[in-house]
Amino acid sequence: MSRLNFATSVAFAIASLHSFVSATSSELSRRSDQVVLSTSNISVSFDVPAGAKLAMPLDRQLISMSIEFCYATDFIGTPGSPNTFSKQLLQNVQDKSGLPPILRIGGNTQDIAKFCENCPVAMNSTYKAGSTEAVNVTFSKGLFKAMNENGPSNQNYIFGLNLGQDDVEIPKAELAGALKYLDQSKLIAYELGNEPDHYIWPQVNYRSPATWTMAAYVKQTLDWLPQLASGKRFQYGSSAANPATVSEFTMVQAVKWGISKIKQIKIISSHSYMGDRCTPANEALLSLETYVNHMNTVQYYSSYLGEIAAAKSIGATYHMGETNTVACHGKDGLSNTMGALLWMIDYAFYMATLGADRLFFHNGKGDFFYSMWEPVALNESYAAHINPQYYSMLFAADVVSDIKTPSIHRIAGLDTYDLAHYAIYSGSKIQKMVILNTHYHNGTTETRPAKYVDLSPVLGRNIQVKRLTSANTIAKNGTTWGGQSVNSAGKLVGEEVWEESQSGVVRMFASEAIIVKAKGR
Ligand SMILES: *[C@@H]1O[C@H](CO)[C@@H](O)[C@H](O)[C@H]1NC(C)=O
Ligand SMILES: *[C@@H]1O[C@H](CO)[C@@H](O)[C@H](O)[C@H]1NC(C)=O
Ligand SMILES: *[C@@H]1O[C@H](CO)[C@@H](O)[C@H](O)[C@H]1NC(C)=O
Ligand SMILES: *[C@@H]1O[C@H](CO)[C@@H](O)[C@H](O)[C@H]1NC(C)=O
Ligand SMILES: *[C@@H]1O[C@H](CO)[C@@H](O)[C@H](O)[C@H]1NC(C)=O
Ligand SMILES: *[C@@H]1O[C@H](CO)[C@@H](O)[C@H](O)[C@H]1NC(C)=O
Repeated sequence: MSRLNFATSVAFAIASLHSFVSATSSELSRRSDQVVLSTSNISVSFDVPAGAKLAMPLDRQLISMSIEFCYATDFIGTPGSPNTFSKQLLQNVQDKSGLPPILRIGGNTQDIAKFCENCPVAMNSTYKAGSTEAVNVTFSKGLFKAMNENGPSNQNYIFGLNLGQDDVEIPKAELAGALKYLDQSKLIAYELGNEPDHYIWPQVNYRSPATWTMAAYVKQTLDWLPQLASGKRFQYGSSAANPATVSEFTMVQAVKWGISKIKQIKIISSHSYMGDRCTPANEALLSLETYVNHMNTVQYYSSYLGEIAAAKSIGATYHMGETNTVACHGKDGLSNTMGALLWMIDYAFYMATLGADRLFFHNGKGDFFYSMWEPVALNESYAAHINPQYYSMLFAADVVSDIKTPSIHRIAGLDTYDLAHYAIYSGSKIQKMVILNTHYHNGTTETRPAKYVDLSPVLGRNIQVKRLTSANTIAKNGTTWGGQSVNSAGKLVGEEVWEESQSGVVRMFASEAIIVKAKGR
């Protein structure tokens, strides 16, 4: 997960969003102060050259993964015994775009983990009854060996080190182990500490609230990072503070406190969950309809613009370094649905238009309902399986697959609460359009609402369409991507389908997403 309890910081934001979104669709469509019109026939027409000038780089690994530290070997396996299901799922993405998602190994349990070079198992996570986040984690050289050997050929990692225990000897030993056993060409960066803004929480109790401030964090990292490895790249921040609320643990503040002096910092990371189920009260505020409201997603994440600018101001890459729908491991029936899948794609592409480089969607085992996949069988009747979330990576990989340096622009003027439009460019040339019809449809009404989207103004009348679909917004299985699905071995099965249209018009049902390109492009 992350988040033992981040109730107070987001409760305010969620509560205000909730009142906004609890209005019905028809009420929303009447509001003139928000761009929330829902129409059924749309002409996609905009200034294509102007969009190219405003387009932002679209990273080939935009949708990447974070794995809760204590579950690393559940996902990747152990030396000589790779998790073949995970490996195939990662390979599928690499097969499309050339690169699998980057795996960040981190989260709350990175701050309790310790290296034990010659311990008998790759990772030993121990749990208290009733908790699915380990209380003790040790890992040996076997973990690094598994990271080297078990992924697809282009697998890369971000590896989390322990700051929580406040003992520099712990991360020093971890890093020494990594330098000795981990193929450094697989490493994008190390990361020191997870969500340091939460170190003062009583449940965690890593630091005293009297002295733990952003200034203290910067001072400690200024002191530690040079001791750790002068030549290594680090991801920095990993704070869960929502920049729209009052917190000094923002990257804007970190830059003010002088982190540009820390030469190891190459990546700035924020953590974000749009809602949480860390308390019953907060869980009661959750609704999938909020997540599939595109304007809500735009409004919520626009608050990260300052954080992205802070990263760029010191020449750093910007990662949403740990994120997902619902903090405290996701919510069954929300986080593992088609609606949440559409939210992920919309959120990721929108962040790219703001200048973010990559997003790392968090994963765990068992009650982590937002995971891309369940990595191992939990018991005889509960096998390893994917969740709809996995298709987000296939979708994003197909968007960039045949474009060398893709860029992305959101056509804000066309967007509504249930329709998102992203133009994908190569230089000044438009290559594709991504359209999401996020209209909420839970299957209880007989007819599934549809929209007719006319792309002829920008792509011409002869177009090809690849469609992401499922029965409805709340479906937890049965998703298909261009007619294909993922079988129990993790393999893509079925014939890949690009639909053709000679009118430039595509019918999109509620809760679908498409990639569209001119035929013969
Ligand atoms: C929308 O377009 C479809 C297909 O072109 C057409 O059948 C339908 O009548 C249109 N609906 C509206 C409200 O204009
Ligand atoms: C795992 O760690 C626990 C202590 O947390 C210890 O009792 C146990 O023996 C260890 N298991 C292995 C296989 O190393
Ligand atoms: C965790 O490790 C500490 C020592 O590091 C030990 O005292 C404690 O018993 C362990 N807890 C469990 C549940 O293994
Ligand atoms: C198997 O695991 C699933 C998921 O945790 C759980 O819902 C189910 O009750 C378990 N079944 C048995 C027989 O233990
Ligand atoms: C489906 O949505 C309708 C209208 O929003 C609601 O009344 C109904 O309870 C929902 N059903 C399910 C199964 O979620
Ligand atoms: C798919 O989801 C439906 C509705 O929740 C359920 O009835 C069905 O058993 C699921 N199928 C599989 C293969 O999990």
